[in-house]
Amino acid sequence: MRQSSLVVVANRLPIDDSIAPDGACEWRRSPGGLVSALHPLLRHAPATWVGWAGGTGPAPALPDVDGVRLCAVPLTADDLRDHYEGFANATLWPLYHDAVEQPQHHRRWWEAYQRVNRRFAEAAAAVAEPGAVVWVQDYHLHLVPGMLRDLRPDLRIGFFLHVPFPPPELFMQLPRRAELLRGMLGADLVGFQRVQAAHNFAQLVVKVLGLPATDRRIGVGDRVVRIGAFPVSIDTAEMAALAARPDVAARAQRLRQDLGRPERVILSVDRMDYTKGIEQRLKAYSELLAAGHVKVRDTVLVQVAVPSRERVGQYQVLRERVEREVGRINGEFGRVGEPAIHYLTQPFDRAELAALYRVADVMAVTPLRDGMNLVAKEYVAARVDDAGALLLSEFAGAAAELPQAYLVNPHDLEGLKEGLLAALRAAPADVAERMRAMRAHLHTHDIRAWARSYLTALNDTGALVERLTSGGESARLPAQPGRSAARADHRG
Ligand code: ADP
Ligand code: G6P
Repeated sequence: MRQSSLVVVANRLPIDDSIAPDGACEWRRSPGGLVSALHPLLRHAPATWVGWAGGTGPAPALPDVDGVRLCAVPLTADDLRDHYEGFANATLWPLYHDAVEQPQHHRRWWEAYQRVNRRFAEAAAAVAEPGAVVWVQDYHLHLVPGMLRDLRPDLRIGFFLHVPFPPPELFMQLPRRAELLRGMLGADLVGFQRVQAAHNFAQLVVKVLGLPATDRRIGVGDRVVRIGAFPVSIDTAEMAALAARPDVAARAQRLRQDLGRPERVILSVDRMDYTKGIEQRLKAYSELLAAGHVKVRDTVLVQVAVPSRERVGQYQVLRERVEREVGRINGEFGRVGEPAIHYLTQPFDRAELAALYRVADVMAVTPLRDGMNLVAKEYVAARVDDAGALLLSEFAGAAAELPQAYLVNPHDLEGLKEGLLAALRAAPADVAERMRAMRAHLHTHDIRAWARSYLTALNDTGALVERLTSGGESARLPAQPGRSAARADHRG
């Protein structure tokens, strides 16, 4: 078995199998923030990505993708139901997102979660060379750091949570709260999107495990586990270059024509998820249409909602409700050849997404709760013309970094309507000033800066940091391990 000095362990591999138009099986990039963040980073790095390729049955043998070795972990039908759809996406996901849907608890799901975490830990242990860095990602794999430390004490282990980490009063509901915390503490560094999340974690470690902890360090026996905030980002330069391509600009123009040359295009791009606030957004738009503040002839909404976790009940209910509401709004306010909402559920390639971003006068990103939301960052990076208004939920992690967006509380329907109208009617000079400030932030705070700050804080990984973060915009930033580590520490 080939071994690597860097191993990323994430539930999802960066590719998904799908059926091509000719009926053949083909692989394409899987939608979702984790893959969008890590895939550009690892391209051409000497890394192995351990993850699930989708589906059940034996793990497929996968070719390297852009130089990254892919190591598939198999899931059985029971694992899929009880680990992925159950404990990960029907217990932890809703609980971590403010319990906007009711988290469910089943003992069978916990058994599957342990079993699958062990399989991932063993797969990672097999492909990590002596002393390697193993970087475990997200809520599907809380137990992997602890299991891996038992298997391979020689490794340097990082854990990063892409989703919010909830306040103690929510986390305390979990029957297996102590085991989950202990699993994460197998890492040398536990990273979160927000400072508040690191604080929540430290409080819980004291309360549940009785360990000494600050918002920066936790004592676990004779080890010190560091914690901190490392807001994830995107490949800003890549998205900007894509959006500036003449064929993408031409495609954006054609899209506007195809949409009937409206004065204003509003765009939303989400996985079909109840955390994304799709229903609230549709309600706000529908009320603006009903009140005559927005007219279908002048304004269109393009809602991209790619189906996600389709066998989980709460996701099925959401999709039915969204589709019923889109149908109602189009029936009530649309005209022949002029729907009020263009509703698309297809996955798009990056160039088509960039063209959509370029055509959008207002990008509405209004999740009820979101760890970061990379769509918001992609939109900003794509607006190389400094045009376009970002309407952004205060409850997205991105809001902390992009305060120049038009910020809204998506739970407040009137506020959401006002925010949407303000973004639609904003003066071009105001829009441009805000966009310039946000683009400047993302220019330096891109995915390589994120990896640099995390891996530097993980320590002794200088050579790795250089290999991973060379190339692209932020490679020109001076390497300042001491300062970056201090900054990451300070944030946490
Ligand atoms: P989440 O991780 O919860 O899905 P993010 O906004 O952080 O939310 O990340 C979503 C990622 O998935 C983005 O990189 C976005 O471009 C991508 N994506 C969303 N919808 C589609 C789609 N229809 N086709 C292709 N990629 C998509
Ligand atoms: C979020 C999660 C990721 C996940 C992605 C897509 O970004 O943080 O871990 O991969 O959603 O969801 P899926 O269930 O399709 O992997």
